[in-house]
Amino acid sequence: AEDGYDLWLRYRPLDGAAQARLHAQARAVVLAAPASPSLDAAVAELRRGVAGMAGREIAVSTRLVPGALVLATPGQAPAGLVLPWADLGREGWLLRRQTLQGRDVTVIAANSDIGLLYGSFAWLRAVQTGADLARLDQRSAPKVGLRLLNHWDNLDRHVERGYAGASLWDWWKLPDLLDPRYVDYARANASLGINGAVLNNVNAKADSLTAPFLAKAAALAGVFRPYGIKVYLSARFSAPVELGGLKTADPLDPAVRAWWKAKADEIYAVIPDFGGFLVKANSEGQPGPQDYGRNHADGANMLAEALGPHGGVVMWRAFVYAADASDRAKQGYVEFQPLDGKFAPNVIVQVKNGPIDFQPREPFHPLFGAMPHTPLALEVQITKEYLGFSTHLAYLGPLFAEVLQADTGHGGKVARVVDGSLHGQRLTAMAGVANIGTDRNWSGSQFDQANWYAFGRLAWDPDLGAADVARDWAAQTFTARPAARDAIVALMMGSREAVVDYMTPLGLHHLMGTGHHYGPAPWVDNLERADWNPVYFHRAGRDGIGFDRSPAGSNGVAQYAPSVARLWSDPRTTPPELLLWFHHLPWDYAMPSGRSLWGELVARYDRGVATVDDMRRRWDALKPEIDAARHAEVAAYLAVQAHEAQWWRDACIAYFQSMSGLPLPAGVRPPA
Ligand code: GCU
Repeated sequence: AEDGYDLWLRYRPLDGAAQARLHAQARAVVLAAPASPSLDAAVAELRRGVAGMAGREIAVSTRLVPGALVLATPGQAPAGLVLPWADLGREGWLLRRQTLQGRDVTVIAANSDIGLLYGSFAWLRAVQTGADLARLDQRSAPKVGLRLLNHWDNLDRHVERGYAGASLWDWWKLPDLLDPRYVDYARANASLGINGAVLNNVNAKADSLTAPFLAKAAALAGVFRPYGIKVYLSARFSAPVELGGLKTADPLDPAVRAWWKAKADEIYAVIPDFGGFLVKANSEGQPGPQDYGRNHADGANMLAEALGPHGGVVMWRAFVYAADASDRAKQGYVEFQPLDGKFAPNVIVQVKNGPIDFQPREPFHPLFGAMPHTPLALEVQITKEYLGFSTHLAYLGPLFAEVLQADTGHGGKVARVVDGSLHGQRLTAMAGVANIGTDRNWSGSQFDQANWYAFGRLAWDPDLGAADVARDWAAQTFTARPAARDAIVALMMGSREAVVDYMTPLGLHHLMGTGHHYGPAPWVDNLERADWNPVYFHRAGRDGIGFDRSPAGSNGVAQYAPSVARLWSDPRTTPPELLLWFHHLPWDYAMPSGRSLWGELVARYDRGVATVDDMRRRWDALKPEIDAARHAEVAAYLAVQAHEAQWWRDACIAYFQSMSGLPLPAGVRPPA
């Protein structure tokens, strides 16, 4: 039975007519590129795909036969092949059906073997999605340089915020035993263009930098290398003390600097193409430069100095907040913006999409656009810590696209910061906190695979539309038949907004249960830190609801560019989606819909529940189109989601009613 293991690389037999068309276009693979492990991987994938979809083995040939797939790099391209090579860059690819030396062939061209691997996956995607192979003419080059998964995997194989089983990395058996699954992981990533993996949790243990673990990481790097994936590690700032026996981890101390230099040399001796360090410092209790009176730039630059000679980068996270903050959302900007221009050239500051913490909806982080002299990476969470784990269906393409397309007010949208074009940055990156584990289907649910997929596609091209990405994914994963495919896409496209509606509508945030962040708990007010309490975030009382970040409140809004700050300072020009993020308003505040704020809040909770009920009906109707096992699994999850959407709605309405003291609007069903 189908179990989802193959992800979007299923390659099931096409129907008769399509199979015949594929036959004609894939008679042989012709190699016009230097031999390499990556080229081998490309050929193996093409053969696997064609064997699956066309039901036949294709030969590898050196002769230019009609109907060949020609893998070509400029140095060995067949005579007569004229292509815009320069436009493809180091990793880009081109697919073109053309006549070459009198034969109709499909050219897969790139400047590197990795580009050919990406191009091969792109051609297979074209086949899977029903593209017209006889007229193929596509090309693409990544807009973002470093496209990374961040695994929050602990060395004991527990995955922080992981809802898909244990860590894939079997540290006990590494480096000697290499689970074949590592190759499938690499294939899946390469098919999207993901080119880096941070193996261990940002809440890092120093152990991951010891020789035995470096040997294990090196073994994984060896598996991933042909697929263009570099290995990175999260580094614990206090490692010189914990591992090196030094008295301090002060970044300005010469002995500390020497320790990190030696550590970097040791790492590169076993992993010559090591990507670099990801660092969570002075955040949620982690050690960092501030422990010694230094700042983030001091800390990052020390590590950059150690990695620089080897070509490594430091990804220094901007996710920081302190216990007594009057407005936790402000702290990242407060600590980092003044350091603009102070970071070494191989440092990239990694910023979460929003200023709090991966909520169902947040405004974009105010650092985007505000640090013109510093490379900034966008960090999103693929794993759904605050969006119902892997039980709730929420396609995150619209969430990722929403932040990428947001206008920073600094002359361009977030995507232009991420791809470096706004301020001319050459070091560019996008990171996604992985949702992958040992579950047979990798991601905990079938539809959560789409979030891994969407992250990869958008990291390659931040301007892709979320619906287009969903269409490709649904065609590759479930069915390319247009009506069924589009029904799946429609279901996906409404799913994240449904979660916003039944959890945290109108800009509310962080109402989730303590610690685990699953289920509603807006009433919690007794945690050891004020800024962990849901009441800190929603501030509901008899007078109204919402966090006042306007100039009359915390003035968090002033961290945005003037054009944005002006709009969001006034509730009448703040989009309803962000209203209670920026404003504390009376319950009878008149909404654009004509309802009162209280009425609108209730209506949104109801709309969320209704959308999930509708998603269930849509999925049921797709039964004839989907294999039984996966259909049943998704249906079972949707039943849980419907139940829990109701739970969220009932709990939040009951609680907020206890604050507002207002009756439910006419016709609304009372909470159970
Ligand atoms: C969230 C999450 C933590 C994680 C942190 C981070 O707060 O709940 O588990 O460590 O983000 O991004 O560092």
